Amino acid sequence: MTTSTSICCIGAGYVGGPTMAMIAKQCPDIPVRVVDLNQSRIDQWNSDNLPVYEPGLDEVVKEARGRNLFFSTDVQKCIQESSIIFIAVNTPTKSFGVGAGRAANLEFIEKCARTIAECSTGHKIVVEKSTLPVRTAEAVKRILHSSASGATFDVLSNPEFLAEGTAVEDLLKPDRVLIGGESSAAIETLAKVYERWIPRDKILTTNLWSSELSKLTANAFLAQRVSSINAISALCEATGADVDEVARAIGTDSRIGPKFLKASVGFGGSCFQKDILNLVYLCEHFGLKEVAQYWEQVVCMNDYQKRRFSARIVRTMFNTVSDKKIAILGFAFKKDTNDTRESAAIHVCRDLLDERARLSIYDPRVPESQIRNDLQLAFSDALGGLSDKHKQLIDKNVTVHKSLLEATRDSHAIAVLTEWDEFKSFDGKQVFDSMYRPAFLFDGRNVVNRQQLTEIGFEVHSIGRASEVLL
Ligand code: NAD
Ligand code: UGA
Repeated sequence: MTTSTSICCIGAGYVGGPTMAMIAKQCPDIPVRVVDLNQSRIDQWNSDNLPVYEPGLDEVVKEARGRNLFFSTDVQKCIQESSIIFIAVNTPTKSFGVGAGRAANLEFIEKCARTIAECSTGHKIVVEKSTLPVRTAEAVKRILHSSASGATFDVLSNPEFLAEGTAVEDLLKPDRVLIGGESSAAIETLAKVYERWIPRDKILTTNLWSSELSKLTANAFLAQRVSSINAISALCEATGADVDEVARAIGTDSRIGPKFLKASVGFGGSCFQKDILNLVYLCEHFGLKEVAQYWEQVVCMNDYQKRRFSARIVRTMFNTVSDKKIAILGFAFKKDTNDTRESAAIHVCRDLLDERARLSIYDPRVPESQIRNDLQLAFSDALGGLSDKHKQLIDKNVTVHKSLLEATRDSHAIAVLTEWDEFKSFDGKQVFDSMYRPAFLFDGRNVVNRQQLTEIGFEVHSIGRASEVLL
């Protein structure tokens, strides 16, 4: 690799930050500049309080920051100084206009392409790191080629497969790195960066469109497995089968495999739903109605699973939770992250607040401001307006606590919504003694020690298991 390789990444979020930190760690001779328009996010990346909570990330950032890893808001200057430019900005579902609720909003991608076109000189490799609809590179290329400065560009697709909570491990030892493109020289330049720590046979190269589509497809397949096992969990609850036993039994079939078979209150996160809806929209666009309906069902099943969980709480608690205190354990969309985007907890809390329950929420990593903001958004209309009635409901009926013991004290029920390790082994006796009777526990992640808690006196309701009272 030429020593002139230098990297700029536009977007300092959950992908841009950790991904670039890992590249900088592994390639100390390559300058890596991460830029964002959001000043406070950049300030946090430059502080001891990183904006993204990921086990092991602090160490990676500390090793490289100031050496060859830099965080800045000077987007244009960093683009000018770099030979490879990653675009890792957000691509949320459109909330307005054509394709609202399904298509990806490519506004931020287009703005990045225009900025790169405006301020570049010489030759640059532009890398799509964000998850994009297939054939987005076509539009990116057209914008770049309109550059008035005479700059030339190669466009590559290099989607990211890391999962939050395990990002550092995933970046260190990925199952594969995928690079799609038309120029073999550009592909080779990027492959050489990854080759510093990833075996060559794990670096797959494809054409641009296969690479873009593989990312959407991978997320659709993963989400489909969760929806499939969640669909079976409903049948288990009705029949006396146990979904964890079923998952173990089918997961040992090497053709099926054991991963992504954990039944839950529903998948969350910033990407599964967004990427499937994007896939659905693409299929509809190409006139593939049946294919669109097939994938949309994965999201419908997930919505059903979230609704089913809150309905079960209400039904079990004698058909009313009004003015009852329910402790919500976990608000993040999975453990080991502070991210709450599309968290199932938001939906369950909204349903329970609609029933006028009082919620006492505890999550080890999500700040109170984020929880309140998410709940306000959940009650807002399409234009973001929140009625006074809903604002008062949240202000009056939601408290956020700093520990599990505080949150569960004097409660009528506990709902476990994130699988944080500390929820697997809390002091059941102490919690039970402080609760009303019957002491209900609804385990949306099947993580608590059901037998031990039942022996203490809890009435435990798990996902995909008929309630003891029915058996
Ligand atoms: P994010 O919202 O955490 O970060 C995106 C950042 O881009 C924000 O900080 C925003 O301020 C910045 N940004 C937007 N427009 C900009 C512009 N014009 N110039 C400079 N900065 C700009 O998003 P994320 O979770 O990091 O996801 C980024 C992309 O990666 C998405 O397409 C997502 O689908 C994909 N992805 C995410 C994950 C994940 O685990 N979060 C994993 C794989 C892929
Ligand atoms: C997912 C993919 O796993 C990543 O490969 C991908 O890069 C990323 O989306 C993305 O494109 O953003 P992430 O959403 O961070 O990663 O986390 P996952 O571990 O996939 O979990 C997603 C949701 O599914 C979580 O709510 C999790 O609790 C739930 N889940 C997962 C289950 O309910 N059961 C399972 O067996 C697995």
